[in-house]
Amino acid sequence: MVSLGQINLERIGLLAQEAGSFWLPPRASTTASIVDQAFYLLLVISTFFFTLIVVLMSVFVVLYRRQPGAEPGRAPSHNPLLEMVWTGIPVAIVAVIFYVGFVGYMELRSAPREAYEIRVKGQKWQWFFTYPNGHVDSDLHVPVDQAVRLTLTSEDVIHSLFIPAFRVKMDLVPGRYTTAWFTATQVGEFDLYCAEYCGTGHSDMLAKVVVHPPGEFEQWLATASDFLKTMSPAEAGELIFRRRGCGQCHSTDGTAKIGPTLKGLYGEQVRLADGSTAEAEDNYIRESILEPNAKIAAGYQPVMPTYKGLLKDEEITALIEYIKSLK
Ligand code: CUA
Repeated sequence: MVSLGQINLERIGLLAQEAGSFWLPPRASTTASIVDQAFYLLLVISTFFFTLIVVLMSVFVVLYRRQPGAEPGRAPSHNPLLEMVWTGIPVAIVAVIFYVGFVGYMELRSAPREAYEIRVKGQKWQWFFTYPNGHVDSDLHVPVDQAVRLTLTSEDVIHSLFIPAFRVKMDLVPGRYTTAWFTATQVGEFDLYCAEYCGTGHSDMLAKVVVHPPGEFEQWLATASDFLKTMSPAEAGELIFRRRGCGQCHSTDGTAKIGPTLKGLYGEQVRLADGSTAEAEDNYIRESILEPNAKIAAGYQPVMPTYKGLLKDEEITALIEYIKSLK
């Protein structure tokens, strides 16, 4: 927590409560108060000077308006004292703002050594969270009261990971890694957004942060990593379909989205963009997942990213079984 010396905003009741306020969402991480403190400090200073300036301006306009027949008087020359005051006060205010910002920034940039590592990848228009054991999930699961360090990168364009309740926002840039960290303080579910316009599906690029109570995170990770063994292939396929965000572009109810629907697809003759047709059997689906641009269905754009290296063979098999089940 940043100490502002005399100006402890929390003590004078200006900081948002844990539950959130009119201005800000609930605070659910250890570092959220740093951001809130800076925000409220700026809000108070800006409100004070805005009010002061507008009120004085209005009063002066009325008080010193031109009277009929009056001649303009002589303008006063220098007033060294006044000039020093109106230079000194702003410099002091800006120094305080810098201090609060700098201390908070350093805290937000330096993750504790013992932090749990999760890799994050953004791809139009979904999130991939990779855990140390190799499990990939479309939601961010974390243990409560444990520092978590995210290493982020992007597959295509710039995305931005934004978790309002944690006051965490970090860009995902193709070709390089960025990092962010937080310690969640409340068990529950929180929203995770993409905060950088990244194309058609930007507003659908959503995920949940699930904060697990003590001990339950490991349990969740073990079960989540094991689903291929414990579920039927079609069920596992449905889970992969959801986790990998396939539904962003492919519906399962017959409606056309960015990509063709998967309902009733299996075994059909698909019309392709080059005029030929292909049967939607196992190999066609496998190829469409690994090399999406090899055969483009007529009427659609070649915009699907490849899943080569992202899905294991058994996961592709499970997806095929799931698509088969969509009659
Ligand atoms: Cu990704 Cu906006």
